[in-house]
Amino acid sequence: MSLAMDQHSGSGMASKSYYLFGRFDIQAKLISENSAGTVTTFYLSSIGTHHDEIDLEFLGNLSGNPYILSTNLYANGIGGREMQFYLWFDPTEDFHTYSIDWNPQRIIILVDNIPIRVIHNKENIGVSFPTRQPMRVYTTLWDGDFWATRGGKDKIDWSKAPFVASFRNFNANACIATPETSCKGFNGGRNKGLNFQIRKQLKEIHLKWVVYDYCRDFIRFAHGFPPECIKKN
Ligand SMILES: *[C@@H]1O[C@H](CO)[C@@H](O)[C@H](O)[C@H]1NC(C)=O
Repeated sequence: MSLAMDQHSGSGMASKSYYLFGRFDIQAKLISENSAGTVTTFYLSSIGTHHDEIDLEFLGNLSGNPYILSTNLYANGIGGREMQFYLWFDPTEDFHTYSIDWNPQRIIILVDNIPIRVIHNKENIGVSFPTRQPMRVYTTLWDGDFWATRGGKDKIDWSKAPFVASFRNFNANACIATPETSCKGFNGGRNKGLNFQIRKQLKEIHLKWVVYDYCRDFIRFAHGFPPECIKKN
């Protein structure tokens, strides 16, 4: 399936099902050439107020310049947990697999099966985490040129429209939340803890590919970091 953006409108799709926990994979091939100002997304979101959301947003760029993969989490309506990455390949040349693995203990975001971010459930220290609200899966493509590329400096070149991003092989190994089901026991059949391999891969990715980490933003949090950023937690 492809999403296209021609004029100032965007496009998107949503899953019919609502899920509470699971592993979600999609293969995507992003807008090639000049994609500056465009934002292509793959995310989970609940509906209504105090919503939960797990975000992957691909921020386009001028030809030959790198995309940024921006990740974020909203829980109970509170976001602001951005972590951004460069990718180690050109995401416009071919399909790559992007995944969200979500269970009550943690969320893992993966690129080609390599973990790039883990968000642990720290409700025990008062940090909200998505554990109660079922979410749908979305992919969208929209105009984000007021902020997406070099902080909004590079605008969309509409003469290059339509902008097209392609998706395939969506897979959800997840608990479909209907009023009748309980997803409480659902763990996706995976280990609760992070094994050595995952920790090693994460460390390598974090050394090389992180562009922005809110937990290291000393200007934004000059008056103190959020509790989940403090190591002893
Ligand atoms: C776009 O390219 C510039 C220059 O290489 C880079 O600084 C920036 O991080 C890239 N990505 C985005 C989304 O701005």
